[in-house]
Amino acid sequence: MFSTMIQAHKADLWMVLVISVVVIRIQARSNEGGTIFLERGHPGILSCPLVTSGRILLDQIDAMYWYSPVLRDEDILISYFLGNVAPQNGIPEGVYDINGNFSLVIENVTDSDEGTYYCRVKPRMRMMVDEQVTMRVKVSPKEPFPDVTQCTERISGTTCEAALLNDIKKPMLTCIVRDTKPAVALRWLLEYCDGDTQLISDRFTVQPSKYRV
Ligand SMILES: *[C@@H]1O[C@H](CO)[C@@H](O)[C@H](O)[C@H]1NC(C)=O
Ligand SMILES: *[C@@H]1O[C@H](CO)[C@@H](O)[C@H](O)[C@H]1NC(C)=O
Repeated sequence: MFSTMIQAHKADLWMVLVISVVVIRIQARSNEGGTIFLERGHPGILSCPLVTSGRILLDQIDAMYWYSPVLRDEDILISYFLGNVAPQNGIPEGVYDINGNFSLVIENVTDSDEGTYYCRVKPRMRMMVDEQVTMRVKVSPKEPFPDVTQCTERISGTTCEAALLNDIKKPMLTCIVRDTKPAVALRWLLEYCDGDTQLISDRFTVQPSKYRV
């Protein structure tokens, strides 16, 4: 999520806008619909809800299998059996791992890893149980913020200054956030000299871009 603050001061000829963007990082784990977001190009950890919920205790697990995208033998990625972890179906070593918490480790998350994952657990003296996890790939935007086309001076990593001629009838500010995934939400706020702020979507025309980049 992004919030953009505009500070408006009236100069004789110029309208100086100080723009800053506050970034709230998308949490690596989101409970929305049980989807877990993992950062592209980094190692990612998918935990098995059966284990994290405490339904199955770590020391009760005899065997575990991670599957994707379908719960069938040909789609087993990696297995754990009585202390041994082994990749399955011809997948080379070092692509996946199962860590000490019985979570699936994807050593380098790529777009093609997006999808549904299943963990199948065999607890001692009990029946096998399955649970699924949906994984989506995210790419966090990188600083500096904001990339506002009209800015002429950067004040800090998250603040910049744009000077617009006062006689322009419809001053326009364009905020660009590149290379992020999923698409970000932008909010424009106006900060008055007395420190008061206002969401300006109702007073100004805020037009989101069609581009999903
Ligand atoms: C992760 O995978 C991408 C795409 O295959 C590759 O460009 C990148 O170098 C890899 N990163 C690591 C740390 O292996
Ligand atoms: C297992 O989970 C706990 C708590 O979430 C964490 O502190 C610990 O580092 C994890 N261990 C491994 C091997 O991932």
